[in-house]
Parts: sequence; structure tokens; C-alpha cells
Amino acid sequence: MNATSAGVFALFGRPLAHSLSPRIHGAFAAQLGLDITYRLIESGPLELAAGLEELARQGGRGANVTLPLKHEVMALCSELGDAARRCGSVNTLTRSAAGWRGDSTDGIGLVRDLEDNQGVLLAGRSALLLGAGGAASAAAFALLDAGVSRLAIANRTHARAQQLAQACGSRATPILWADLPGLKAPDLIIHATSAGHVDAALHLPASLVTRRSVCYDLSYGRAAAPFLAWAREGGAQGVHDGLGMLIEQAAASCLIWHGRRPDTVALHDALRGSESNR
Ligand code: ATR
Repeated sequence: MNATSAGVFALFGRPLAHSLSPRIHGAFAAQLGLDITYRLIESGPLELAAGLEELARQGGRGANVTLPLKHEVMALCSELGDAARRCGSVNTLTRSAAGWRGDSTDGIGLVRDLEDNQGVLLAGRSALLLGAGGAASAAAFALLDAGVSRLAIANRTHARAQQLAQACGSRATPILWADLPGLKAPDLIIHATSAGHVDAALHLPASLVTRRSVCYDLSYGRAAAPFLAWAREGGAQGVHDGLGMLIEQAAASCLIWHGRRPDTVALHDALRGSESNR
């Protein structure tokens, strides 16, 4: 893959008004001495193909893709990275002579935040994944790659939990949402549903959390608040939102585009400081 030194980049998705991505990629570019433009392009699935063509015409070198486009964009890629193909989701596009290459850095972003920033070693730990959509899928494969010993997957629509568990292999097991009260408390609980984005209640049993639990919500801000409150009420040892994952997946995109991985520590501190403003 060609490392790019600078150029035009963009984020596609809807809604984007509160996106932190321009700030994150701007900070990385400044740190690495790169001259980039990072645009926000509001787009639903119907406008995506034309939007990407236009970006390419304007010399666009890469893009991020967020909700609700991470799956749909796969059909517009000329090439897919392994993680993207496995989890059926793309968040990073890189322009090549052949077209757009699609990669998924969400999973590695989660693992880096957990292991490097929160000090949670994943190898040998048991985990419960709540959700079986695109975000959950990226998390599932990355957690198993990182050595999680057992992964229980619960989802509102059980058939999707079954499908994801089957794709993940023998260490993954689907579990009915109704059976969660009987599950032995796992070391790690990952919340990957979109319920918080629509203010829907999750109804999780208190018995899942112990003082040893690490609870992580892939969302941040308001969408993560109910799950994090539930985890705190249960006395979990570690309670984390997905802001760190957002920064780390962006750093992984940066590595793909520019061939250099930015340092993320200062940005974690800066964005945490301004979090209450969101
Ligand atoms: P994303 O890319 O954010 O993962 P998605 O692929 O649409 O979005 O997946 C959304 C996930 O949140 C799914 O697991 C969904 O459950 P279903 O498969 O049953 O739809 C879950 N979800 C959404 N709203 C929910 C709610 N109110 N309660 C529980 N789970 C919910």
C-alpha cells in the first residue's frame, strides 16, 4: 500500500454534526507534519457512490465511513482488507489506481484502547458481547484475535447472535437475552447495541457485574450513559466509554493512509477534557 504524505480526506455518514473525526485527524496531521484537509460529507446510502466519485475526482486520498454506511460501502470497494471482509464492515477507504480499498480499524481500535490505554489484558479472559450488528461484529473478531477465551454473544434478535457466533468459531457461543440472568459473570462486558442512540432501555440483570468486571461501551457521550450507569451501579472495577476506541481506530486509519502511526496519549487527555461540552 502506498503511504500518502498529504491530501484530501473526508468522513461520510449521517448525522455528522457532532463528529470528532476532523479534530482527531487534524491533530494527527499536525503531529506528523502533514498537510491534510478533512471534510465532513453528510451522506446516506443513496448518495454514497456519487460522493466517493466526487471525492476521487477532487484528488481524495482516503475517507472514513460511519453510520449508516459501514456495510453498504463494501459494495463500492475494489479490494477489502481481511478484517473488513470478516466482519462485513468498512470504516476506512484508501484510494488506489484500482479504486477504493476498504479496511476496518474498529476492532483493532477497541483492542488497543482496552489493552494499551486501560491496561486490560484480554488473553484468557471471558467476555460477553451485547449486540450482533456491524459494530459488535468488528469487536467480536478483534477480541477473539486478542485471545479472549470465551465470548458469549447476546442480541435482541437471537438469530443474528447465532450467525455471528458461528462465523466467529468455537470460542463464541450465542446466548438468549432472556438467559442473561443465569450467565456466570464474565470478566469483560462489551456493549455494542445501538439502543443508547434511540434512548431505548436495555434491561440488563445486575448479576452480570462483579467487582472484577470491566465494562466497555463502544459508544460515547449520551448514547453510552445508560450502560455505563448500570455498570457503575453494579460496582464494576473498570467502566469505559468508546471515546478511546474512536481515537485508536482513527490512529489505525492514519497508519494505513500515511504509513505512520501517531501518538495518541495527548489526544486522549485533550478530548476527555472537552467531553463535558458534548
Ligand atoms: P451498528 O453498526 O451500530 O452495530 P447495526 O448493525 O444496525 O448498527 O446493529 C445494531 C445493534 O443494536 C443490533 O445488535 C440490534 O439488535 P437487532 O439485531 O435485534 O436489531 C441492537 N439494537 C438496536 N436497538 C436495540 C434495542 N432497543 N434493544 C436492544 N438491542 C438493540
